[in-house]
Amino acid sequence: MTVKLERRNGIAVVTIDNPPVNALGRAVREKLWALAGELDEDPSVRAVVLTGAGKLFVGGADITEFDRPVEPPGLPELIARIEAAAKPWVGAIRGVALGGGLEITLGCCFRIATADARFALPETTLGIIPGAGGTQRLPRLIGIDHAIGVVAENLTLDAAHAVELGLVDRLVDEPLVDAAEAFVLEALERPLPEPVSRRPVAAVDPARLQEAEARIRRAARGAAAPPLALAALRFGLEHGFASGMANERAVFLKLRASPEAAALRYLFFAERAALRPADMRGITPFAIGRVGVVGGGTMGVGIAAALRNANLPVVLVERDETSLARGMAALAAVFQAARKKGGLSEAEAERRIGAVTGAVGYAALAECDLVIEAVFEDLSVKRAVFAELGRICRRDAVLATNTSYIDPRLIAAGLPEPGRFIGLHFFSPAQVMKLLEIVPTPATRPEVLATAFDLARRLAKIPVRSGICDGFIGNRILRRYRTEAEVLLRDGVSAAAIDAAMRGFGFAMGPFEMQDMAGLDISFLYREAARSRGETVPETPGDLLVRAGRKGQKTGGGWYDYAPGDRTPQPSAEAARILAPMQAPPQTLAPEAIVERLLAAMAAEGQAILAEGIAAIPTDIDLVEVHGYGFPRRRGGPMFQASRAANRTQDGN
Ligand code: CAA
Ligand code: NAI
Repeated sequence: MTVKLERRNGIAVVTIDNPPVNALGRAVREKLWALAGELDEDPSVRAVVLTGAGKLFVGGADITEFDRPVEPPGLPELIARIEAAAKPWVGAIRGVALGGGLEITLGCCFRIATADARFALPETTLGIIPGAGGTQRLPRLIGIDHAIGVVAENLTLDAAHAVELGLVDRLVDEPLVDAAEAFVLEALERPLPEPVSRRPVAAVDPARLQEAEARIRRAARGAAAPPLALAALRFGLEHGFASGMANERAVFLKLRASPEAAALRYLFFAERAALRPADMRGITPFAIGRVGVVGGGTMGVGIAAALRNANLPVVLVERDETSLARGMAALAAVFQAARKKGGLSEAEAERRIGAVTGAVGYAALAECDLVIEAVFEDLSVKRAVFAELGRICRRDAVLATNTSYIDPRLIAAGLPEPGRFIGLHFFSPAQVMKLLEIVPTPATRPEVLATAFDLARRLAKIPVRSGICDGFIGNRILRRYRTEAEVLLRDGVSAAAIDAAMRGFGFAMGPFEMQDMAGLDISFLYREAARSRGETVPETPGDLLVRAGRKGQKTGGGWYDYAPGDRTPQPSAEAARILAPMQAPPQTLAPEAIVERLLAAMAAEGQAILAEGIAAIPTDIDLVEVHGYGFPRRRGGPMFQASRAANRTQDGN
């Protein structure tokens, strides 16, 4: 049963019941279409209440249908049918009304909602624009300024805000259907409002529109959908509702078939699947209440902040009072920065920092359910920490390392219960970056692995399981990417051309700019350590720069020069001179060719990682790249790109 009908006191209650999110798939649309006709004809019905079963109203169109041609009845026609119904329809909303879910309420005569309701048009995050009147009806209901945010900037309105803006006619308490019934009986006493599509819309201030256009284009970083969503809204304002609807639908259908939308849909489903790996089903994770973090440096502070953002109490342990004070101050600064940005109230910032206990020495960790180690990347230091943790922590506590490169089996060696040990590789800044690489050892118990996935879900992270290899999935691909960029550089292509090509593809930074920001010395020291162990590691262009004191932005220059206090990379004559002995004569390569070379290198490393069983499926590699390494989301990831390229080649044959 996808849609249920109940009649009470002359009111038809239509409930969309299509788990898990009441999506408006074909079966739902067909049933609603049929009901709209049937209820129009039914003299015993005076009004219709449209609601959703369960915790939410409607999560949108059915995204799984987007790879097929549209199956009638289309959503725009259905909404127009509801708007033209002989009896008033009332949207009764609890939980989310997203995308088509919000649009269908705009075809209703009234909207009422419970306090937990949230409204959004997240279509642009799927590479499309609202396709069922969202860009046309919303500005007529809540005004252009607010509609721009919802239509093109993925702004979510909560129930209170929706009432303020006139999107919701009344805030009500549960039981929702009873409240709807009472509302309808009152509303029927008064003249009905104009359908939203026929309401006038205020004139647009061209300056504000231009400002919005520039803002949206900047934030979109090359993605097509957000500027087009705004353009569709504007078109309707200038040409009227009917033309606006036709235009909106045409743009929607074109985008729906675009590679960008395919990539974003692919990630949408991959992200959800990542949270629930098939082999974790039925395994109960441990309950995690209090978490310890050892090391209050860059990563420890970020991890502690991420834990507090998920409302987990934290014990932060440092090696001495000075380091502890520094770590605690850095943690407070994270929340104060969030407050200044407007994301947190003063009281909430205080509350988050207030539930962090700082300590020197490990005794404070005795009652933690999970301890995450983030001390220096040095095996002996980490081993000493785990020797203490093995002694002090409860025997059922999960012990995790945030190591980037060290084999977790070496870190765990000597632990009394190696089954409770696991790698949890966060990315910097850990309170922001979504990726969590989960690295079990062969001894890790399934419940511990399940606990890691559960923690990722609570922290709103994207978990990806990695086998053990040098750099795990992400840093291994990063190394290959950088190496390939250096091959191009040696072949005579300039760092500036390579960086510009990758920015053009959608990365925020190219590989050389990124190294200048992070510092060239980290990978240099890594190579030097290998050399000192007697391994053959050929000299790289980066080594030449570091030996000349050019470690990146922090030393005023690396691949580029930087003016004091300015992070804009400037071409560097000095770097060119240092690198000259390793470079072929300058050559120009088209940006597409540069991108193709670097993507191919990443995908080849991804293939090797799959072949070795380090990653289970290609989507895991793409999730790592998108959520940990800035791979442009609208491009899906290196494996997605490689599979598209392979399909194109096949089609060409
Ligand atoms: N279509 C099809 N399947 C959907 C879906 C949708 N719109 N939304 C969610 N699902 C699926 C998920 O893939 C997931 O499936 P599995 O259980 O198989 O993994 C399941 O529903 C549950 O989803 P979540 O894990 O995300 O559940 P949640 O409770 O955490 O969140 C939600 C619920 C807030 C609705 C969230 O799923 C969400 O944001 N969904 C997408 C909303 C969206 O983008 N809507 C716009 C669609 S486009 C549109 O409507 C175009 C138009 O104008 C015509
Ligand atoms: P950091 O040098 O900023 O911080 C390390 C902290 O550990 C210091 O504050 C130090 O005082 C503390 N410490 C050292 N020994 C200690 C001990 N015995 N007990 C308690 N505290 C101790 O290092 P960072 O960058 O935070 O890295 C930590 C770990 O995270 C490393 O293993 C690193 O490889 C890994 N990592 C780092 C990332 C990064 O981008 N910086 C990304 C992902 C992982």
